[in-house]
Amino acid sequence: MLPDRKTFPPDFTFGVATSAYQIEGSSHGEAGPSHWDTFAATPGNIADNGNGSLACDHYHLWPQDLDLIRDGGFSAYRFSTSWARVMPDGVTVNPQALDFYDRLVDGVLERGPAPHLTCYHWELPAALSDLGGWQNRDIAGHFADYCTAIHRRIGDRVASTATLNEPWCIAWLSHFLGHHAPGLRDIRAAARAMHHVLLAHGTAIQALRGDGARNLGIVLNFETAHPANDSPGAIQAAKLQDAIYNQWFIRAVMGQGYPQAALDGLEPHLPQGWQADMEGIAQPIDWLGVNYYTRRLYAAGAGLWPQGDAVDGPLPKTQMGWEIRPEGLTEFLTRLARDHVGSLPILVTENGMSEAAGPDITADPRRIAFIGDHLRAAREAMDEGVNLRGFFYWSLLDNFEWGWGYGPRFGLVHVDYQTMARTPKASWHAFRAMLRE
Ligand code: FCB
Repeated sequence: MLPDRKTFPPDFTFGVATSAYQIEGSSHGEAGPSHWDTFAATPGNIADNGNGSLACDHYHLWPQDLDLIRDGGFSAYRFSTSWARVMPDGVTVNPQALDFYDRLVDGVLERGPAPHLTCYHWELPAALSDLGGWQNRDIAGHFADYCTAIHRRIGDRVASTATLNEPWCIAWLSHFLGHHAPGLRDIRAAARAMHHVLLAHGTAIQALRGDGARNLGIVLNFETAHPANDSPGAIQAAKLQDAIYNQWFIRAVMGQGYPQAALDGLEPHLPQGWQADMEGIAQPIDWLGVNYYTRRLYAAGAGLWPQGDAVDGPLPKTQMGWEIRPEGLTEFLTRLARDHVGSLPILVTENGMSEAAGPDITADPRRIAFIGDHLRAAREAMDEGVNLRGFFYWSLLDNFEWGWGYGPRFGLVHVDYQTMARTPKASWHAFRAMLRE
């Protein structure tokens, strides 16, 4: 069951989220190649050998997708613009792309919801990837230019702007664990990306503000890291994981410096003079976006630093094997307010679950329970004083789930990838009943 709408303040935002590469179809509209196209073209990188070239064909079907947001009763839509679409070679603007996002933003507004922009949800233009991508310090200036180009076209109509989505994924998952583009497993590459991604955020915030942009933030992901047992090695592994994942980015953004436990391993590989960048990284922001999905257990591993192995946990799991633990959302929201952001407005910018489609593609009772439990967990954080202003479900549509391909279904709306038919699931109807009552 979803909670009663009245248990949240009248101006609380209920929205849905998507991202460009996962839904648009990168082969349309003269988008340039991104490092996700390259990564997906490498055999074995994507579970079903899929890619985002067609995805949900949102590039053409966006009007009906926006109708679904309106009809579901949502007051906000979080979407991203694709850097590779807007700047196919990484630097030169593609007018067709700006026209597309211009129409999209007007389309959202005409239907009522407020558009919330994320500038980077992972489509790095391949041309910039060729120059080292996030490993190359120049990325910060390029990124600021890209954000400014977007702002100049649609910034007058968006309710909020986030620089980056999930820097942990951009840097660590992609350059150390190798699971996302560019698929590297290299400590030096990872350390540089961990720093440059933040430098890019700070540089972009300064450029956007200088250009008159308002309501600026960043979207960070948080994942509970618990020790798998009470051995000192497991406790240490979970602590280190927490430092790399849950502290590195928020501390830097809030001017609190990198966490020592992570620095112990990464500092030898950081770019020289990194300390001088910390002030520019810690730009004031107007809100923080929090993505929360799951927790993971860690045991001492036999390998080199950071010496941790993720271990299968005992809780109920989603289609992707992610443990379901709603109280983790309350814990992170209260911890963020207490240790990092104080009364800064927070938005839950992503939360959701993947669930395979059964014979009745609209039946998703576990998703409804998941959403209800997480909304109640969010409400609890508000009761504890957290300045939480909104909640965006991930995702409006089933879509391209990165390395997992099209298997995991996160949508409130089912997508048939043969016909591109959209069919609202019971969870979409549950939201509609809650929000329209
Ligand atoms: C987040 C991503 C989003 C989606 C969800 C399931 O890490 O931001 O694009 O893949 O996970």
